[in-house]
Amino acid sequence: MTTLLITGGAGFIGSHLTRLFVTKYPEYHIVNLDELTYAGNLENLQDIENAPNYTFVKGNIIDAALLQQLFNKYAFTAVLHCAAESHVDRSITDPLAFVKTNVLGTATLLQTAKDNWKNDFTGKIFYHISTDEVYGSLGDTGFFYENTAYDPRSPYSASKASSDHFVRAFYHTYGLPVKISNCSNNYGPFHFPEKLIPLCIHNIINNKPLPIYGKGENVRDWLFVEDHARAIDIIFHKGKTGETYNIGGHNEWTNIALVKELCKQMDIKLRREPGDSAKLITYVTDRAGHDLRYAIDATKLKEELGWVPSLQFEEGIAKTIDWYLENSEWLRDVTSGAYKEYYEGLYK
Ligand code: NAD
Ligand code: DAU
Repeated sequence: MTTLLITGGAGFIGSHLTRLFVTKYPEYHIVNLDELTYAGNLENLQDIENAPNYTFVKGNIIDAALLQQLFNKYAFTAVLHCAAESHVDRSITDPLAFVKTNVLGTATLLQTAKDNWKNDFTGKIFYHISTDEVYGSLGDTGFFYENTAYDPRSPYSASKASSDHFVRAFYHTYGLPVKISNCSNNYGPFHFPEKLIPLCIHNIINNKPLPIYGKGENVRDWLFVEDHARAIDIIFHKGKTGETYNIGGHNEWTNIALVKELCKQMDIKLRREPGDSAKLITYVTDRAGHDLRYAIDATKLKEELGWVPSLQFEEGIAKTIDWYLENSEWLRDVTSGAYKEYYEGLYK
């Protein structure tokens, strides 16, 4: 049996990816290594936790001894590396946490894979899941391509850029068979409510202010999370070794237009008067170093591997809102305890 290591499988994207692989490939054994930080939650995987081809291990990717034990026990032939500190605002208050997990953690994982595969790389894959933020910030026009020069501007994106560089360095120096994808902003179920869309859904439900940084004119390119997982599946199985693939939704929204759209849809779902939720919109101090615009050109992925997003935004966002309304217990659980402290500290 092929045994794959997924890191960070209890997080937002990792849980969708783990579910996809566990259900679609019963012939693979999936081991999910996750430290269960504030962002990791085993509730995200309840529906597959007893699957015969799935094992969960709690642990940290910077723990080289643990990684070695797991390679000894499971003889992984592939790594799908999702674990990361992922929130830009947290990286502004605690950059070193991002260096530890995203840089040191990725390097530790690369080194362990290389040592265990002992230069016999046939049939092996180290797949690194990365972000479009490594390319920096766009003006009003243009797109990020796979060959766009790196220009990270936040501690988060600098740590992800660094991890991408290590992955490529292991490919060029040791021949480690790597694949990298850089994706735009994801949205969908199980998204932790520190990020814009789930935070606003949570606050609309609870009649709390919707904090818009600056003037709300920054632009993001939103992709439904299951489409990201599907793209990773295709690149993992059919993408070329040593290559990078951009993944994006061709779905750009200014933050303020996006939040107004959410308010409109939630007024209908919550049977409120039109315009009621939008009254919660509150402009707050801008994020330090706030990137203006991200937009991905995913032509390579479409032309080489035939991937296009399957969901239109209207459908994806409606599904997402319904999921949050139907899973109030999940939302309550993740917003209790430490979340409150974080939230009150950030939006003083
Ligand atoms: P997330 O914060 O929701 O989940 C991260 C997961 O990693 C959590 O389960 C957490 O417990 C785990 N983790 C964190 N540090 C760890 C460590 N040291 N050891 C083991 N596990 C650890 O993140 P996400 O939004 O699902 O992002 C997943 C990956 O995709 C990241 O690499 C991120 O950079 C990338 N990405 C995210 C987006 C997005 O819009 N969310 C877009 C493009 C790329
Ligand atoms: O582009 C991919 C990246 O998208 C991923 O690599 C990151 O892991 C992910 O967190 C996301 O980063 P962003 O910073 O774009 O996402 P976030 O949801 O934090 O913010 C989206 C936009 O909304 C951004 O312009 C900042 C703004 N914003 C965010 C929050 C949390 C607000 O205006 N108010 C808020 O309260």
